[in-house]
Amino acid sequence: MTTAVREPGTGETPETPLPGPDPEITAINTKNLKKTYKSPRGNVEAVRGIDLDVPRGEFFGLLGPNGAGKSTTIGMLTTLVAPTGGTALVAGRDVVADPVGVKRRIGVVTQNNTLDMQLTVAENLQFRSRFFGLSSREASRRAAQLIDAFGLGDRRKALAHALSGGQARRLLIARALVHKPDVLFLDEPTAGLDPQTRVNLWEILRVLHAEGQTVLLTTHHMEEAEQLCDRVAIVDHGRVLAEGGVDELKQGAGAATVVTVRFEEQVQPDFPERMGLTARPSVSSAEVDGDQVRVFSAEPDGLLGELVELGAREGLHVRDAAQLRPSLETVFLALTGREYRE
Ligand SMILES: Nc1ncnc2c1ncn2[C@@H]1O[C@H](COP(=O)(O)OP(=O)(O)OP(=O)(O)O)[C@@H](O)[C@H]1O
Ligand SMILES: [Mg+2]
Repeated sequence: MTTAVREPGTGETPETPLPGPDPEITAINTKNLKKTYKSPRGNVEAVRGIDLDVPRGEFFGLLGPNGAGKSTTIGMLTTLVAPTGGTALVAGRDVVADPVGVKRRIGVVTQNNTLDMQLTVAENLQFRSRFFGLSSREASRRAAQLIDAFGLGDRRKALAHALSGGQARRLLIARALVHKPDVLFLDEPTAGLDPQTRVNLWEILRVLHAEGQTVLLTTHHMEEAEQLCDRVAIVDHGRVLAEGGVDELKQGAGAATVVTVRFEEQVQPDFPERMGLTARPSVSSAEVDGDQVRVFSAEPDGLLGELVELGAREGLHVRDAAQLRPSLETVFLALTGREYRE
């Protein structure tokens, strides 16, 4: 937004800036948002009461494993899924009371490819623009802009079904932006892409964010969340387990490195206590999980060798061992006691 400055001495009133999104209105606000799917084979509590507060301009990530409730949450925020409890405001509008108002102010990229396969790249963009009420001329201009911004220049006349996975994903995101939405929702935008294509898409999303676009993205990819998001909510079984900046979350988990040793044999549950591991000030937690011992420590040097030795004293034989530096993965492990598998 341009700041209105009065030229000294001229007495002229400066141009009124365009209204733009209201900075006072948070982009996304939910309170105790819930979704239970009803089915003859029993109810599924997909989302069990989620509170989110995403200010304008933020890049926010919902990170969680399969079935955590990410798509259901995004579905409710984008008016595609009816909540069964709580409230959600998007760009200041209630998703239940004013779904049309919400839809006009959001861009959505769902998990599946919803392009019009028999239309060209340019047509996919123009048709969507027309749907949002742009004139034919404006629609062409907007399409040209987006084709340029998303590096699709040499594919503008290609049919959507001829695009590579990465190109299709770029076009889906471009199409979600034709009407300059307040909030862009992306459900697992890089799932199924090869690493290089994924990194290219990250770059595009970074640029969008730098230009001020508010984004809510879901991902089960930890590195993606770390790379892109200002703030992350870790979700599992329909609940937010932790929320904050990536660094903040890592510090919250005690900034601990996780040392895991897996033995050939089952480990006695009181092993950490008997070996004096739990009593150490540097150790925030030590647990036994079947044949594994897992120790969260702020001073991991030498710990792995020590665990191997302590195990040997009990007649345990090492199968494998691992050391994880503080990351969202160790945060997840600390919160759930489960390893995060992608
Ligand atoms: N339409 C539906 N009817 C019944 N159950 C559903 C429906 N959609 C999702 N679920 C269930 O709700 C839970 C949450 O699913 P959801 O798709 O929101 O998770 P997700 O985090 O997006 O998972 P993924 O990483 O696999 O995309 C799962 O147990 C899922 O099986
Ligand atoms: Mg999903």
